[in-house]
Parts: sequence; structure tokens; C-alpha cells
Amino acid sequence: MTAESRTIRVDLAGRAYDIVIGAGLIDRAGALCRPLLAAPRVIVVSDDNVAALYGARLAASFQQAGVRADSVTVPAGEATKDFPAFAQLMNRLLDHRPDRKTTLVALGGGVVGDVTGLAAAVLLRGVDFIQIPTTLLAQVDSSVGGKTGINTRHGKNLVGAFYQPRLVLADTDVLDTLPRRELRAGYAEVAKYGLIDQPAFFAWCEENGAALLAGDRARRIHAIEQSCLAKARIVAADERETTDLRALLNLGHTFGHALEAETGFGDDLLHGEAVGAGMAMAFDLSARLGLCPAADAGRVRRHLAAVGLPVRLRSIGGDNRRQWQAPRLIDHMRGDKKAEAGKLTFVLVRGIGRAFVSRDVDERALTGLLDDAIAA
Ligand SMILES: NC(=O)c1ccc[n+]([C@@H]2O[C@H](COP(=O)([O-])OP(=O)(O)OC[C@H]3O[C@@H](n4cnc5c(N)ncnc54)[C@H](O)[C@@H]3O)[C@@H](O)[C@H]2O)c1
Ligand SMILES: [Zn+2]
Repeated sequence: MTAESRTIRVDLAGRAYDIVIGAGLIDRAGALCRPLLAAPRVIVVSDDNVAALYGARLAASFQQAGVRADSVTVPAGEATKDFPAFAQLMNRLLDHRPDRKTTLVALGGGVVGDVTGLAAAVLLRGVDFIQIPTTLLAQVDSSVGGKTGINTRHGKNLVGAFYQPRLVLADTDVLDTLPRRELRAGYAEVAKYGLIDQPAFFAWCEENGAALLAGDRARRIHAIEQSCLAKARIVAADERETTDLRALLNLGHTFGHALEAETGFGDDLLHGEAVGAGMAMAFDLSARLGLCPAADAGRVRRHLAAVGLPVRLRSIGGDNRRQWQAPRLIDHMRGDKKAEAGKLTFVLVRGIGRAFVSRDVDERALTGLLDDAIAA
């Protein structure tokens, strides 16, 4: 193992696995995966962008380790998480005649990770899978925790399974080819871990966020490691979101989902961008309710803006400025799958690093906050 890589153990009874974080892991993937494979046979699932960039190198690495690697490429983008696309993926996997000892390898962002994880959960009633996340968002969030899923016309991620990988390899070098905007969006989820319960990590983000986004390798490794540690700790304590603990990971997400729903879950607003704006709103609402110092809300907003995330509603939506409406946003919040029986659930804060779940937010305060955010 090079000096530059770190390993984190995710502790789940009977299904513990490692997350390895470091530079150059794609080229070592064959050797790192080989000991975990039930048979020397994998099928790599990737999207067309990532396959073109890294597919050949990953295949060579498996070949060197004596592992037969077939591949299936899916179109890049969220549409790959639709039912028809998923059916096609399953059939293309079956075209390769896998058996129960075949391992699926997800090489890509959260889309590839989510569909490959679900495919692994149901292919031949379950085969092993390994994640090689290639976006910052996937490295710090979606590849950790075992949630897999696809979208339906009723909403996002409504069909899925909790299914843990055997190994996660987060190669920090691949972030060099990730579009800047995607990198920043993933960074919002990094800052989130500090805001939930680690004020010192948020302070680190304020100091180092710009440098890690600009490409600093050591800072990237540190940020990914801290994020995976934070998520792994929460997931190990509450794998299936049965208590409020795992729900804290949804800081900024009730607001964020409403913004995404209103912008059509498309390129106008990436998920991480929505989470960034949503976290700023969660802090503002908490300050307005007298729960959190206004100075903390100001710090959050300043830091997210400083790294280039859109925190003001008027900066969202590209050229076509949106006519945001508070009642519409609140309707989306009620429809969120995290809302229980139509009740609005928020992660609020008593300050930076002091998040908690609240189910009794005053709707007038919420409307007031949204009206002001729309006018700002
Ligand atoms: N399972 C979970 O716990 C969980 C958590 C958060 C998000 N998600 C899901 O993750 C998805 C979003 O994931 P995402 O943000 O990674 O988006 P994504 O997978 O769509 O990837 C974003 C874009 O970047 C490209 N790309 C990926 N890696 C690249 C690289 N190294 N270089 C150049 N281009 C690269 C992709 O081809 C794609 O065009 C959503 O579907 C969301 O629902 C799941
Ligand atoms: Zn998220």
C-alpha cells in the first residue's frame, strides 16, 4: 500500500468491508479485489463517459491479476436509473452468463453505483459487488452505506435495496477529469459532515476547501477519509435509518429536494448544489426560529458561496430565472419520501456541528423564510 492511501473499515455485523482511499487505485484494482472474489470473474458496469476514460485501465488491471473482466456500459445520466434502463442492464448482464460467484464492479458516479448495487442485489438472487466511485459525491456519500436504487414516475430512489459492497476503492486521481461543477456539488456533501456533528471538520473545510477543489491531493484524501469515517460511523450505528441518527445525513436535503423537484432533477441544479443551498436554508431557518446563532448561519452561507456553490435562489436555474413560489416548494417537501404521513421533517441545527431532527416546524416560519429567500 502506498503511503498515500488510507483504509477505513465499515463495521456491519457479518458484512464488514473496507473503503480504500488513495491515488492510483484503478491500476491496482485487480490485485486489491482479487482476494475478495468468490471466483476470478467480474463484470464491470460503467457509464459511457467513465468507460472511455478508465475502462481500459481497469480491465488491464483485472487481467494482470488473472481475473476475467467483461464489461457493460450504460448511458451517462440519471435516465439510466429508470425502470426500462434497469431492465436492459439486467439483460445485458445476463448476456454475459454470470454465475452466483461472479462479482459486479461499479465504475462510475452515483448513478452507476446505485444501479449496479441494485443489479447485484437481484441478479441470480444476489451476487457480490465492489464499488469504484469516480465522482466526489460517490466517493464521500453514495458508495458508502449500502443504499441502492432506481427511480419511478412516483419519485426518485423509490425502488431499491440495502445491499452492502464487498469493497470500495476511491481513487482520488480520477477526480482530475471530473467537471469542476460536479466536483463542487460533491463538496457540499463533504461540508455537510462537518455541519452535522463535527465543527472542527467544518473549520478545516473553511481553511482547505478551496485548495482541495483546486486539486490538492493530500487535502482530497483527508476530506474523503473524514467524510467516509463520518458516514460509516452513522451507518454502522443505524444501517436502515430506523432512528433519527441516519436521518441527520439528510441535512439540507428537505429544502434541496424541493429545489430539485422544482427544477426537474436536471442540469439546472445538481443534487449537491441543491444540498448546499438547502443547508444554507436549514441554518437560516434554525436562526430564524431562535435555535442557532445567526453568526453560524452566516459562516455556512459564506463558505459555500466562497467555493462557488449557488446559495441564493436567484442564482439557480441558469439563464431562465425561475419564478419560485413558497407554497409549491412546501408541497414538494410534503411529498418527499422522508416525510412521514405528510408531516414536514427537517434536520435543523443549534449551531455548526449540532444538527438534530425536527418534526414540528412552524409552517408560518417556514413560509416566511422561503418568501425572504425568494425575494433575496
Ligand atoms: N445510494 C446513496 O446513498 C446515494 C447518495 C447520494 C446520491 N445518490 C445518487 O447518486 C446519483 C448522483 O451521483 P453523481 O453525482 O456521482 O452523478 P453521476 O453518476 O450522474 O455522475 C455525474 C457525471 O460525471 C461523469 N463522471 C463520473 N466520474 C467522472 C470522472 N472521474 N471524470 C469525468 N467524468 C466523470 C458521469 O459520466 C456523469 O456524466 C443520483 O442518482 C443520486 O440519487 C445515491
Ligand atoms: Zn445528498
